[in-house]
Amino acid sequence: MPYENIIVETRGQVGLITLNRPKALNALCAALIKELGQALDAFEADGEIGAVVLTGSEKAFAAGADIKEMQSKTYMDAYLADFITNGWERITTCRKPIIAAVAGYALGGGCEVSMMCDFILAADNAKFGQPEITIGTIPGAGGTQRLTRAVGKAKAMEMCLTGRMMDAAEAERAGLVSRVIPAADLLDEALKVADRIASMSRPVVMLAKESVNAAFETTLTQGIKFERRLFHSTFACEDQKEGMAAFAEKRSPVFKNR
Ligand code: HXC
Repeated sequence: MPYENIIVETRGQVGLITLNRPKALNALCAALIKELGQALDAFEADGEIGAVVLTGSEKAFAAGADIKEMQSKTYMDAYLADFITNGWERITTCRKPIIAAVAGYALGGGCEVSMMCDFILAADNAKFGQPEITIGTIPGAGGTQRLTRAVGKAKAMEMCLTGRMMDAAEAERAGLVSRVIPAADLLDEALKVADRIASMSRPVVMLAKESVNAAFETTLTQGIKFERRLFHSTFACEDQKEGMAAFAEKRSPVFKNR
């Protein structure tokens, strides 16, 4: 499928999506978000793909929703189009893991998209922020919610009220990103991590993802119960038998993704 705003490639068992509007620092226009959804649909349906990496350029993961496209919207435009539910939340419904490999600016909707992914690997030049307040609006793709859960109220509130950006080191200390990597190595490392995930049992990876995500939606007691049910269900997977047999026999497992 020809895409205009993203580049879509496969690297072995990994799907790679690169946001590609360099002149606008990858501002997330409606056409880009639509293409991103189409690319995720295709990777989700592709049995060869076990994980996805979403990245941008070295200067910008994405500098936000496209301000020029948004500026003249009316309330009714936004309400009737269900801006931004349509499209953007496709990232959160993907059952395969998505790693955000973030270099440069991840601002506004760009920060929000990175937080919709399963985890963020940050280049040492990454900058995260929710600067919407500086242009007279507030985060609209989950920023006030996901950032607060990731870094706590104090930092999230300061960032949303002032627009202050967090650098990669602060983002790592605050728990927003899993690791910081030299910018030149970011993509290779993200692909390596994604390939490792893709080499595990696909259904068991999906169960693990579903269970971690449940932590954000439930009480501890309910979450523990949910995890236990999913844990029990892994004993119905051929791959659990294979994984444990391989351990006992001191060999590498050969997962069948069943
Ligand atoms: C549209 C954008 C853009 C954006 C940058 N550009 N960000 N266009 N929407 N979010 C465009 C600029 O207009 C410019 O185009 C080109 O990209 C390069 O940007 P510069 O500003 O010249 O680059 P630089 O001086 O390096 O500054 C980088 C920057 C700055 C600090 C990231 O661009 C910036 O502050 N951008 C806006 C960040 C922001 O407020 N994001 C939140 C958006 S609201 P021209 O044509 O002039 O060369 C949001 C709400 C989400 O995301 C809610 C859910 C949808």
